[in-house]
Amino acid sequence: MQVMEVRARISATETAPITADGTTVVATGSAFFVHFDRFLDPRTAIRQAYCLRSETDPVESFEDCEQAVSTSPRYDPVTRTLSIYLDGNESELEPNTLYTLTLLAPRDGTDIGLRAFDQAALLETRAFQFTTGEPAEGVVDLPPPSPSCVEVRAVFSRGQCRTCHAGTEPAEGFFIPVVANELPSIVGRTAHETSLDGHADEPEARPTRFGANMPIVDAQGSAGNSYLLYKVLAAQPGRPEDLADGEIERLRSSVVVGLPMPALPDIEPLSEDDLIVLSTWISSGATCE
Ligand code: HEC
Repeated sequence: MQVMEVRARISATETAPITADGTTVVATGSAFFVHFDRFLDPRTAIRQAYCLRSETDPVESFEDCEQAVSTSPRYDPVTRTLSIYLDGNESELEPNTLYTLTLLAPRDGTDIGLRAFDQAALLETRAFQFTTGEPAEGVVDLPPPSPSCVEVRAVFSRGQCRTCHAGTEPAEGFFIPVVANELPSIVGRTAHETSLDGHADEPEARPTRFGANMPIVDAQGSAGNSYLLYKVLAAQPGRPEDLADGEIERLRSSVVVGLPMPALPDIEPLSEDDLIVLSTWISSGATCE
């Protein structure tokens, strides 16, 4: 697995890639958007898998990461992006300062570090340097707000999900709801295709295989642990240019099992923006007020 790009905010309206030579001038309230060529194992996309700090000594593992800036990560499998947001009280970096963001590869089979969903490790630990500019009023990245349930349901209806998923019987997969207070029925419910019933060799509480007993929509806000997104991603026609070769096939052979979702003849596939509505809604807690 490889890091394709790290982007940061350079002005109120623009982000730019952080280049290897440390010359990118980044806004003090920027978040960092790390883009991968593969789907991550979301259990590895945690604070301990990277280090953001103004010290320039190399960081080999999380134990070396002293005086780190406090941040919160959020992973979206639709864009394969790990977004790193500065935390509340420390919501601005020091101005005119050199910072290093190190993305950690695991050093052995058990170590913390970034991994793809099939446990392939990030190929190498990589450090990205940048300098902050003068503080600019109001240029602070926050996680995007939750889309409304009206928007979420509009995506389900554009995808014509209910054409095939309108009932509550397992044979119909599950129930895609149409009215507001029904949305949570897909939240926290194990996707039947991932259920370990009859596979007693894997512990239920902490399955070793990514995807085992995965909920249709994760109740704790993990888009990376939401089967619905993978099922739809695996059914999208074409392959995004920046996706590693064979990735959808790997997903299909170990995670998205079950029948492929047949394409309906007269509907457009969902756009990436539609899928981002779903992943942002899940990351925001998948509630429907
Ligand atoms: C043309 C029919 C069809 C359409 C339209 C369709 N699906 Fe499916 N879906 C299926 C089939 C078939 C399965 C596989 C059922 C199986 O293998 O048991 C499935 C399975 C699923 C599953 C796995 C359910 C589980 O419990 O394991 C999810 C999640 C899902 N679909 C989401 C969606 C979403 C979201 C949409 C709309 C974007 C959608 N589907 C549109 C036919 C369809």
